[in-house]
Amino acid sequence: SRVIAVSFPDTTMQIRQLFDPESSTFSYLVWDNSTREAALIDPVQSQVHRDIQLIRELRLILKYTLETHVHADHVTGSGVLRKTLNSIVVVHEDSQTKCADVQIKGGDFIPLGTKRINVINTPGHTNSDISYLVHGAVFTGDSLLIRGCGRTDFQSGNASLLYQSVRQQLFTLPGDTLVYPGHDYQGRCCSTIAEEMAHNPRLGLDKSLDDFVDIMSNLKLAPPKHIHEALPSNLRCGISGKDSAMAVL
Ligand code: FE2
Repeated sequence: SRVIAVSFPDTTMQIRQLFDPESSTFSYLVWDNSTREAALIDPVQSQVHRDIQLIRELRLILKYTLETHVHADHVTGSGVLRKTLNSIVVVHEDSQTKCADVQIKGGDFIPLGTKRINVINTPGHTNSDISYLVHGAVFTGDSLLIRGCGRTDFQSGNASLLYQSVRQQLFTLPGDTLVYPGHDYQGRCCSTIAEEMAHNPRLGLDKSLDDFVDIMSNLKLAPPKHIHEALPSNLRCGISGKDSAMAVL
């Protein structure tokens, strides 16, 4: 009999991208197929019913909710998900979030089934941004968007720091690493590190630090619509007296 050596891609890690049209936010359900353990990155509170239904349909065990940063444009679903599914709320140690179960920092890793999620510090959009690297994919929050990046004009944002984070942390990953951003406003869903190095109009390899700082200081953006509700609420995992009634699902 003849033996043919065939190598198959590792299909253990699975990713589902989810979208909230109101805030153009992406959430990501990531799981290890061999153990069914899952993490939900940047859950949106107004979408938790949808997310819980998906988690139940796929027979997953939601171990963690992972925040890429303290969001100014939507309220996190982490507190409601913890109440409903017993998930562990994970945030950056510098985020000043009062309600988290686990605080992490760059260089840490989070075990997920037989795999691990690597934590990369990518500050600059805020003072405590995290990117999560999982098996050939990086979830960049607002540090790196497709052909763009998050703003740097509030929440202790710092354009020089963001440039450094993207160039020294994200752009040193393998070029074929998939980039899954925190938002997209033009219908795109995914990119790669090589694609952003070549084509990102703010952070591409043809842009200097001075170019970037100049671009970021001339954006003249209006403040996000929901910043005054979202920021304080997210420091409490989205749970207040009023919201906690929602947790009956
Ligand atoms: Fe943000």
